[in-house]
Amino acid sequence: MPLLDWYRRNRARSAALFDLLDDDAYYGRPIALRQPVVFYEGHLPAFSFNTLVKRGLGRPGIDARLEALFARGIDPEETAASAQAAANSRWPTREEVKSFAAEADAQVVDALAHGDIDQPNHPLLNRSEAALCILEHEVMHQETLLYMWHQIPHAQKRKPSGYVPHVDGTSPAQAWVHVPDGIATLGVAAWSEPFTWDNERPAWTTPVAEFRIERHNVTNERYMEFVDAGGYADERWWQPKDWAWLRATGITHPMFWTYQRGQWLWRGMFELIPLPAAWPVYVSHAEASAYARWKGCRLPTEAEFQRAAYGTRNGHAQRYPWGDMPPASRHGLFDFASWDPAPAGTHPDGASAWGVEDLIGNGWEWTSTVFGPFPGFEPLPSYPEYSADFFDGEHFVMKGASPATARELLRPSFRNWFRPRYPYVYATFRCVDDGADTRRA
Ligand SMILES: [Fe+2]
Repeated sequence: MPLLDWYRRNRARSAALFDLLDDDAYYGRPIALRQPVVFYEGHLPAFSFNTLVKRGLGRPGIDARLEALFARGIDPEETAASAQAAANSRWPTREEVKSFAAEADAQVVDALAHGDIDQPNHPLLNRSEAALCILEHEVMHQETLLYMWHQIPHAQKRKPSGYVPHVDGTSPAQAWVHVPDGIATLGVAAWSEPFTWDNERPAWTTPVAEFRIERHNVTNERYMEFVDAGGYADERWWQPKDWAWLRATGITHPMFWTYQRGQWLWRGMFELIPLPAAWPVYVSHAEASAYARWKGCRLPTEAEFQRAAYGTRNGHAQRYPWGDMPPASRHGLFDFASWDPAPAGTHPDGASAWGVEDLIGNGWEWTSTVFGPFPGFEPLPSYPEYSADFFDGEHFVMKGASPATARELLRPSFRNWFRPRYPYVYATFRCVDDGADTRRA
């Protein structure tokens, strides 16, 4: 019963994440344009119940008001009116949420254990689509929860015993890696994986000209050079909307940094620590792009990322950057292995065929590609708004994985996307340039 086991694993992990918080954080809204914490404790079981039990199997509801209240999150930068409406809605007590969640859970468990959840001619149940959709939905939310938790004051969180951030190490020497002309594989054929989201389909390939890419992510130490050079005060490096955002917010450094008593610190999940030089810098797309422009390079396209991560000299596209072996801790930092990043250079065993490291893990990687449908896109019947609502030209593709990305999502076709000025995500970057042989490092 692997799907039931996966569901139970998910529920246990979600419960552990909520247990990190003190009760006084429960109705707080750590990120202004996200829902408060209470919403997510109801949303996860509500989505699973609504999608699999109610819509999929056609069984009756539990509580129409709570099912509607917990139906859907909001996207950052949605209108102030919708945020205000969410802020004004009345939230149930935690006991009410837990009792609703317990009932929804029981029904989902029953469906996964005994329901006819794989029905070839059913639009939502074909190849267990609804069941797999709710399982991936929950693990994706767990990452979202963690970056929200990151914004909650340390005094309202309980550090797991024995947790010590991995801060040692100096910033590795940056090196440029040459990737020759070739083919990038994007997307995936609908049924070549047990489950894929609509935006990953179908499979297609595209030629990619040679380029050079940095072996490591841009670290805090490297990014500090841009900050120290006055990068945040120089309009030349910023897109007009990004520059307006800086002016409006007064932002002068990455959101994960803070400057106190003459020292730069990292705002870790559970404590402030002296800024780890070798950790990948976590920044918004706007900040990553500005750094790249200042450096005289650019962010990779999605196709370049795919080629750097999965391409090989013989033209075969690998399952993972390191080959076809299942992901293990020596390959990279993912699957909730840490509450914070690790130094760049920690996972040479995860290097791609070209020698590029950390393409999976230690932080999502910004690309310059605007999120959009692949040719032949069709919305997923069990969650039709999942991608289509974001094909608005206002979101950029991120690839790879962060420390808080579940192992189930580490497939080459998986795509993530965010607005360019959303600074909360565990997202880093590396630069590319056009890489003619004469400039090879
Ligand atoms: Fe959701």
